[in-house]
Order: sequence, then structure tokens, then C-alpha cells
Amino acid sequence: MNAVPETRREACGGDHVLVADNLARYYTVKRGMFAQGTVKALNGVSFALERGKTLAVVGESGCGKSTLARQLTMIETPSAGRLLIDGEDVAGASHEKIAALRRRVQMVFQNPFASLNPRKTVEQTLGEPLAINTPMSATERAERIAQMMRTVGLRPEHAKRYPHMFSGGQRQRVAIARAMILDPQIVVADEPVSALDVSIQAQILNLFMDLQEQFKTSYVFISHNLSVVEHIADDVMVMYFGGVAELGDKQRIFSKPRHPYTRALMSATPSIFEADRTIKIKLQGEMPSPLNPPSGCTFHQRCPYVIERCRSEEPKLRDVDGRMVSCHRAEEVGDVDA
Ligand SMILES: Nc1ncnc2c1ncn2[C@@H]1O[C@H](COP(=O)(O)OP(=O)(O)OP(=O)(O)O)[C@@H](O)[C@H]1O
Ligand code: SF4
Ligand SMILES: [Mg+2]
Repeated sequence: MNAVPETRREACGGDHVLVADNLARYYTVKRGMFAQGTVKALNGVSFALERGKTLAVVGESGCGKSTLARQLTMIETPSAGRLLIDGEDVAGASHEKIAALRRRVQMVFQNPFASLNPRKTVEQTLGEPLAINTPMSATERAERIAQMMRTVGLRPEHAKRYPHMFSGGQRQRVAIARAMILDPQIVVADEPVSALDVSIQAQILNLFMDLQEQFKTSYVFISHNLSVVEHIADDVMVMYFGGVAELGDKQRIFSKPRHPYTRALMSATPSIFEADRTIKIKLQGEMPSPLNPPSGCTFHQRCPYVIERCRSEEPKLRDVDGRMVSCHRAEEVGDVDA
């Protein structure tokens, strides 16, 4: 299980390759002509990623998944909280140190068409990180590129091709090869199969899993699709409105979700959540506006289990039944009807 109760956070770093401790990211946005507002896109997220394992991050559009990805990959600087990579605190690290840490955490984006430079061949795309970060000669680089292309299921003789000359699935293979070429410890993949044909999705997921087995890479795998998550995850983090709703071992969460929001997400994926052993919840309404956050539990306006306490008191993330969950009624959820 990868949850990090407050008292144990300091102890993490052993077999945890990445630790997020109350990570937050706020954005200042315009409200009308003069006024400004603050969007708490990520509002205190804590978890630990086990080495060689996959943490899947799920949640509706706008819950903060990509914002989290940008903090983990150090594309942005968090507004608050701590990020430890292999036990090293990113905050306060020197420019050189951050550059070194960035090499160890690579990202794969949803749309390889947008994330690959259309004017660069595969050879250039894969060769650049090697030229910048390693002492390899041109011949060694060419060998490494050919080897990596084979590893991700591309033909090395296509190294001189441009992105538009590949299919969507092949382009995502190029993007994955680019992420893997420096042998990173962590890959953060933000909806890496959602833009692909369903027939191709399983192939790319299997590639991710093969690469993990081969290179022991740790993944933070963002997806809104629970069938995908079921396939690839070891641990699952369900996010809602910038926070953690539920976090823990996949089997435990999938067999008995303890947050009403997790339950609602799973009710919408019948293949995973069999009707005969669960109480179904239909998700109603939309997420509140981030400029106007609700009091108490951020899910209370949509929650069928809501009680008076939920409207005023924010639930803390706590250990219930072997997973972390932020709900006042977590012990009852799933055992009783709302
Ligand atoms: N640069 C920014 N400036 C202002 N608000 C932002 C910025 N980036 C994200 N947000 C807001 O933060 C919230 C979280 O956005 P984010 O893109 O992280 O969600 P997401 O879970 O990745 O959604 P999706 O599933 O649609 O990709 C949203 O309300 C979004 O509008
Ligand atoms: S704290 Fe209350 S409103 Fe929030 S999820 Fe739990 S029961 Fe629902
Ligand atoms: Mg996103």
C-alpha cells in the first residue's frame, strides 16, 4: 500500500522512489476586468510511489491530474508541499541537481502528435537527449536508438521518418522511446492511451507493462478509464477536486471502495464493479467551480451519503480498512445504502 500517514512520511524513501507530501499548486486567474481569484488545482496531495510499481491516478476532468503530473515532472514548482525523488527533496535543490532529477523523471503525454516535434525525425528526437546528457559517440547513439526502437516495437530502419509518417500507435511508441531513452527511474504518463483507437490501446498498455518488467521503471499512470487502470495499476489514487478521495492497493479498492466518489466511478464501469456485490451510485451534477469551492467535504453537493457534518467539516485522509480515504462515513460506505 502506498499511502503515507503523516507520522510515517519521514520514514519513506527506502523502497519508495517518489514521495509527494501535501503537494499543492495554486493558479491566479482573472475574474472579470479587475478582480483576481485563486484556483487550487492541486490542494494537498500525499502519496508514495513504490519502486518498479504503477500508481494509477483517476478522476473526472478538472480534478487536477495533469496539474499533479506537472509538479511530479518538475515542469512547474509546487505552491506548497514537498516532493522527494529517491529520497532527495526537490525544493531547495540547486539548478544542476534539478536538471539531474528531471532526467530521472520523464513524461509521456496524451497526444503524441502534439508532444513530438513534427520537424524532427525519430533519430533526432531520440538522439537529442543522448547527445545532451551522455558522453556517447555518434555511432554509440545510433546503436542505442536502434536498440530502443526495437524495444518499443518500431523498426530501426524507420529512424529517418518524421512523426506524420507513423500511425497514432507508432507515434506513441516514439514518445515512449523518447521517455525511456535515458533509462529514467520514473515515468509519468498522462492519459497515454486515451487518444488512440481502442484496438491499439491494449498494445500500448502491454508495451508499458513489458518495459516496466524489463527496466523496473516506476509509473504514475493517469487515466479516466477504470478498465485501463484495472489492467495496469498496482495502487490506485482517486482524486476529486484537487484532493485525494481514496488511495491504496488496487484489489482492495476495487473489491470494496470506501469513498462514495470511488463507488460512483466504479458503478459507471459495470465490467469491473459487479452489481450483485455492490451498492450502485449514480454520479449526479458536476464538480463545483474551482473559484467557488464548497465548505466541508468537496464532494458533499453530489454525495448520496451526505450528512450535516459533511457540509461544514472537511474530512481528513485516514486509514480505513487498509487504505487511505477522506470521508466521514468511510466505515459505512458500501455496507449500507446511502
Ligand atoms: N495554468 C492554469 N491556470 C489556471 N487554472 C488552471 C491551470 N491549469 C489547470 N487549471 C485548473 O485546475 C483544475 C485542474 O486542471 P487539470 O488540467 O489538472 O485537470 P485534469 O484532471 O488533468 O483534467 P482532464 O481530465 O480534463 O485532463 C481545473 O479547474 C483547471 O481549469
Ligand atoms: S464526507 Fe460526507 S459528503 Fe463527503 S464523501 Fe463522505 S459522506 Fe459524502
Ligand atoms: Mg489532464
